[in-house]
Amino acid sequence: NAIRTFIDNLPKAELHIHVEGTLEPDLKLKLARRNHIDIGQSTVEEVQQTYDFHDLPSFLAVYYQAMQVLQTEQDFYDLALAYLQRAAAQHVRHVELFFDPQAHTSRGISFSTVITGLHRAIVDGRAFNIDAALVMCFLRDLSQESARQTLQEALPYKDWIVGVGLDSDEHNNPPLKFARLFEDARTEGLHLTAHCDVDQKDSIEHIKQALEIMDVERIDHGTNIVEDSDLVALAVKRGIGITACPPARKDTSPKMKGEAILMLLDKGAKVCVNSDDPAYFRGYINDNYCALADQFNLSQEQVAQLAKNSFEVSWISQERKDIYL
Ligand code: ADE
Ligand code: ZN
Repeated sequence: NAIRTFIDNLPKAELHIHVEGTLEPDLKLKLARRNHIDIGQSTVEEVQQTYDFHDLPSFLAVYYQAMQVLQTEQDFYDLALAYLQRAAAQHVRHVELFFDPQAHTSRGISFSTVITGLHRAIVDGRAFNIDAALVMCFLRDLSQESARQTLQEALPYKDWIVGVGLDSDEHNNPPLKFARLFEDARTEGLHLTAHCDVDQKDSIEHIKQALEIMDVERIDHGTNIVEDSDLVALAVKRGIGITACPPARKDTSPKMKGEAILMLLDKGAKVCVNSDDPAYFRGYINDNYCALADQFNLSQEQVAQLAKNSFEVSWISQERKDIYL
């Protein structure tokens, strides 16, 4: 239909995408074979059946378990390159790619193995007419010390990293736990974002901390902000990016939150559409745009505004933004 064609051809930026969340079952099987790891599944269907969850903790358990197949620099390269190729085919022109170094260093894979593979994919991905930058996420359910050590390990690779984020289990792990670390990251010239998940009961308090105290530039998910009109006003005034991830499929957690996305769009907040963990939620960015557009009857102007927002709140130079805006 018309809106699907419009979405397919629209240049987009993707700002909320976990590279580890793009591990498709066929690649998982290939890497398991290559690394001689017995994962207990031997067909795509069997792997698909393990990609089963109903909330953030049950999702995270599956997500971290699957990562065991990622062992070598080439594995990280293959993972990222496969994603970049898919994204480019959906007319994504710019990606800010989350990665979770602690999920790998904690199982004995070196920081340099992870980032060297991801960076090499980004360089080679330019051949598909897509550019990408890395956003290093701290696992908020691990300690401040672990996060601090990770920032130290990252500094020699600072030129390959555009910003830092906060992900993993949000329950009892508020943004403020990492306030000083974020301050140090900012001093190093890194941009700041944080997950404030829609389904967490403290998400309004977490958004407040992230925006009012830590001065982050974006919030990931974050659409619960609509419950607090003062916070929405602040987000509009500051041009805060809100990286929503409305899932294409109705049968998976998380939920779409389409009313909130539309209300934010209507108020002029810089909300955009992303895919989060597409191999698990089983929808890439255009699928998510289309599902939102279909279910909430979006006009082409509204869809175009979402894509425009994605470039506006991205961390590319103004010069490059001007190409897309
Ligand atoms: N890690 C990977 N995807 C995540 C998400 N959507 N929320 C929190 N942590 C994550
Ligand atoms: Zn996420």
